[in-house]
Amino acid sequence: MTEHDGRYAFVPTADAGPTIVGGAGVFLHTADGRRILDGAAGAVVGNIGWGRAEVADAAREAMASGGYVMPLWPTPHRLALRDLLVERWLPAGFTQVFFTSGGSESTDSALRLARAYQLAKGRPSRWKVVGRHPSYHGMTLATMAVASHTTRQAGFEPLLLDFPKVPWDDPQGVLDAIEREGPETIAGFIAEPITGAAGACLTASDDYWRTVTEVCRRHDILLIADEVMTGYGRTGLRFGHQHFPFEPDVIVGGKGLGGGYVPLGAVATREDIAQLLTGAGFMFFTFTGNDASCAAAVTVLDIVEREGLVDRAAVVGAALGRRLRETLAEHPLVSDVRGRGMFYGIELRCNRDAVVAAALARDLWVYPAGSGPVPDAILVAPPFVISDDEVEQLVARLGAALRAVHADAGGHSAR
Ligand SMILES: Cc1ncc(COP(=O)(O)O)c(C=O)c1O
Repeated sequence: MTEHDGRYAFVPTADAGPTIVGGAGVFLHTADGRRILDGAAGAVVGNIGWGRAEVADAAREAMASGGYVMPLWPTPHRLALRDLLVERWLPAGFTQVFFTSGGSESTDSALRLARAYQLAKGRPSRWKVVGRHPSYHGMTLATMAVASHTTRQAGFEPLLLDFPKVPWDDPQGVLDAIEREGPETIAGFIAEPITGAAGACLTASDDYWRTVTEVCRRHDILLIADEVMTGYGRTGLRFGHQHFPFEPDVIVGGKGLGGGYVPLGAVATREDIAQLLTGAGFMFFTFTGNDASCAAAVTVLDIVEREGLVDRAAVVGAALGRRLRETLAEHPLVSDVRGRGMFYGIELRCNRDAVVAAALARDLWVYPAGSGPVPDAILVAPPFVISDDEVEQLVARLGAALRAVHADAGGHSAR
């Protein structure tokens, strides 16, 4: 197999990288023998690191003993994951879980849930879901429309539905927008507790989240926390919203739930919301509750708990954040370093792709991010198992990459 051979031309970046033949811990192994430090856990997914045979064993056992069950009858693996989530992961009261195959299917389902909830309450005029500037919620046409990620939306205008957007940080702006739109037209409000791909770890104030929660309660607007990136321990707590006075009605997850081993997402809500939909036909997907995915996710979450990885994300993550700030905050190409847990955004004064490429040339993967008010940024979000020594390697390689980009630009920043 040769690299750059055009076989993945449909996916813009797929041919540009090295061929990956395996991985272990925080490293990806290339066909030509390189060890790439995975400083973003893929796309902020691989919370437990790579090469865990135990997860593969669980999926294999599920496949070998049955495989695919549809309709959605109970199976031991589905029940085990549902019970684990309800009993050990989700906040109290979140007893209802709908499984999907990833983040976009989950956020899309949450939009559908908000609409179905309002319809069940006899309010057909409530069809809008409010999103934020900037934000990212996935690549289905509905999730693109509720988000604000200019580069990923580019070329698809007009968006399917022009859902209203509010500022990411201004409580009064939220109140004004909801009044302007008319609460009687609004079904839901969706927000990333800490913005990921679009904002590179922008974090709103407590006052903002209090206002959002209060206005949603007042008008019976379903408040959806998009925890696809921030969920399952990434920020040093089980869910990102738990850092703030942000009280969601619906919690959406993906990425770290399957740890990158299986495609899996989940939408969780309370009994009082879900029971309104009973009999209304909340249609599932063909792969909802896939047995092998459920079995693998139970093992992924078991590893997270057994190895204390959420606490590790908080503690080692804080050290990573400190080292990133100490080393990079004053760099002429860096305008901000922000984030918490094992989740950091570095806002840049230069093209992010140049930094990502320079990092990769030094055997480090970081995730390109930014949109709208954050034109260029990268995410640093390694697996929670990263060691202190690997933190130092990550920071050193990123520093070298930034120095190289700066030198190539003749010592100038692009802005
Ligand atoms: C906050 C958020 N929501 C939704 C998605 C979409 O998830 P997926 O790519 O698994 O469809 C992402 C992906 O990056 C995300 O970060």
